[in-house]
Amino acid sequence: MTPRLDMSLRPARPEDVPQIAAIYGQAVLTSTASFEIDPPSIDEMTTRFSRLTLAGYPYLVAVDGALADQADGVLGYAYAGPSHARAAYRFTVENSVYVAQEARGQGVGGALLAALIRTCAEHGYRQMLAVISESSSSAASQALHGRHGFTLVGSARSIGYKFGAWIDVHTMQRSLGEGDRSPPDDAPLP
Ligand SMILES: CC(C)(COP(=O)(O)OP(=O)(O)OC[C@H]1O[C@@H](n2cnc3c(N)ncnc32)[C@H](O)[C@@H]1OP(=O)(O)O)[C@@H](O)C(=O)NCCC(=O)NCCS
Repeated sequence: MTPRLDMSLRPARPEDVPQIAAIYGQAVLTSTASFEIDPPSIDEMTTRFSRLTLAGYPYLVAVDGALADQADGVLGYAYAGPSHARAAYRFTVENSVYVAQEARGQGVGGALLAALIRTCAEHGYRQMLAVISESSSSAASQALHGRHGFTLVGSARSIGYKFGAWIDVHTMQRSLGEGDRSPPDDAPLP
């Protein structure tokens, strides 16, 4: 069990985007967790943030407990977005969880993932996918998702190429709410 940080979770706000961009940018530059090569600008991250949140997808931040109401102290973030564009996929979301390097191993990722799962189930989504590329933190990510009910449903070999190496990608999945035990309800979706 990892030691817990004093933190709180809340929906992300536009003023959090520079810190979100910094956390993501560091991962882009230093790891294969993201398949982007160049860190997106704050403007680009703002566009991505707005597109998701205006469509009603949940986007959460974990904030240092002492700074909960300020746009400072973002320890990590998690969001869900469409897994695929075509309409029949609309009850399935793909998640993304990033924790600042210095805040890892203290329960931030777990707290964000648990809250994201809960929120997506409340919104009426039925399945969540996690697409995890081999990286320095993929063992932690797979352990984290496994602990939150995800199972490995497939792996694709060498579909990424970054930092001079071919990279495998693993897909994990868990159901949300009633999963496939009942027909979905379009009404609560964004
Ligand atoms: C994956 C990531 C989100 C985890 O965040 P975190 O705040 O460190 O996660 P937590 O502290 O809540 O939990 C990590 C779990 O992995 C375990 N873990 C850590 N390193 C591990 C390893 N090498 N092998 C197996 N398990 C490991 C920890 O023990 C912990 O489990 P526990 O709580 O049962 O002890 C973080 O490493 C990260 O941001 N990585 C880069 C982005 C990424 O890969 N995102 C996931 C794909 S979208």
